[in-house]
Amino acid sequence: MSTNLSVGDLGAERLQAEDRERLHGFGGALVWFTGLSGAGKSTVANLVDRKLHAKGRHSVLLDGDLVRTGLCADLSFSPSDRAENVRRIGEVGRLFAQTGVLALVAVIAPYNRDRQRARERMRDGRFVEVFVDAPLSVCEERDPKGLYAKARAGEITDFTGVDAPYEAPQQPEVHLDSGGGASPDELADRVVAFLETNGFA
Ligand SMILES: Nc1ncnc2c1ncn2[C@@H]1O[C@H](COP(=O)(O)OP(=O)(O)O)[C@@H](O)[C@H]1O
Ligand SMILES: [Mg+2]
Repeated sequence: MSTNLSVGDLGAERLQAEDRERLHGFGGALVWFTGLSGAGKSTVANLVDRKLHAKGRHSVLLDGDLVRTGLCADLSFSPSDRAENVRRIGEVGRLFAQTGVLALVAVIAPYNRDRQRARERMRDGRFVEVFVDAPLSVCEERDPKGLYAKARAGEITDFTGVDAPYEAPQQPEVHLDSGGGASPDELADRVVAFLETNGFA
């Protein structure tokens, strides 16, 4: 009889990621859509989610705006709270990925260091960085939530691209030009194609 058994002591008895993944028929991954506000992260990630579902592939979408009303409701937009926001979302995405699910994250994550930390928590190849790349001028023109206007007026502060930095990924797995006329549907197809080519879908 063991009364002090911790999860770590279970050793070989512990269900492995590979065992869980076999149920799905695929390995999981963390697919991180990064880019400025208004670049199209949520739009493209939603389309990828739907396309994967239509293929019978399990996915989950963690959208920054929604996460900040729940899991990360206590966090501000300071650099240290943004780091914690990315860390928490990365950990949740990692748990999903360990079960064989494709975790789609649509979160600005403006700092290279924070995204790199999330990448390092994943096994090789299982962090897919998707740079949703639209120029600031295009994002500001779209301004679907009126946030750029508020940031320019000083009504909100620490806004990425206005008074807080955005560090563009240096070597994203997928680089989407989302300000150059391609439709969100075409861009989503490119992401799905990458996932298929790499055995994730
Ligand atoms: N490839 C695209 N081409 C044109 N407009 C786009 C494209 N992707 C997104 N949009 C539009 O840009 C706006 C912002 O998109 P959204 O997905 O909310 O951005 P984010 O999640 O990055 O803040 C929406 O109005 C959306 O319809
Ligand atoms: Mg969004």
